[in-house]
Amino acid sequence: MVQRIEAEGSVALKDGRHVTIRNLQESDRVALATFGQSLPRNDILYLEDDFTHPEIISRLANASHAENWRQIVAVTDDGEFVGYTAAMRMPGWSNHVANIRLIVQPDYRRSGLGMHLAQAIVEAARELGATKVTVDMLAALTAGQAIFSRLGFAVEGQLARHAIDRDGNLHDIVIMSAFVRV
Ligand SMILES: CC(C)(COP(=O)(O)OP(=O)(O)OC[C@H]1O[C@@H](n2cnc3c(N)ncnc32)[C@H](O)[C@@H]1OP(=O)(O)O)[C@@H](O)C(=O)NCCC(=O)NCCS
Repeated sequence: MVQRIEAEGSVALKDGRHVTIRNLQESDRVALATFGQSLPRNDILYLEDDFTHPEIISRLANASHAENWRQIVAVTDDGEFVGYTAAMRMPGWSNHVANIRLIVQPDYRRSGLGMHLAQAIVEAARELGATKVTVDMLAALTAGQAIFSRLGFAVEGQLARHAIDRDGNLHDIVIMSAFVRV
């Protein structure tokens, strides 16, 4: 079971910097697009959503009021986005399950921001009514697996050659999950 932790608001990072964690708004389209453009090629290649694509940015910004979707961003005092996380409740017989995405801008990694965002989105998923949370990522993304393991997630399965990166190469996917305290 994942513990309930309130993580919204101002956050002090391990390196002394501060960011604000808040819900994504429809008016954040440009900042989100700039965040996408700031990500390194390796991240773009291996993330499920292509944050450099204007249509994807529009879809995310338009979903800021979606009933079954929560999106949280980490914002610097200058208004720059340095982290993004989302939880989406699944349709149909898995509608008690929310799937999570998480990404932190490389300059802000290893400062605890990923953990703050992960805690915030698990709490947001619980508020959405989800009792189970899942996250899937390329098996090669060990940092993501480390962070969710520390939050109490366990590996539930691995899908062989289940994702194709933007260069056309196949990759295994790891699925991690946790049950959320209601
Ligand atoms: C995964 C990711 C969000 C982590 O963000 P972060 O801000 O660096 O994470 P934190 O600083 O909060 O790290 C928390 C803990 O996770 C583990 N961790 C994070 N990055 C790690 C790495 N590169 N190698 C090993 N462990 C790592 C550590 O245990 C770390 O604690 P510590 O720094 O006290 O040792 C970031 O690396 C990222 O955006 N990666 C690309 C996208 C991705 O893989 N997303 C996850 C799946 S959707």
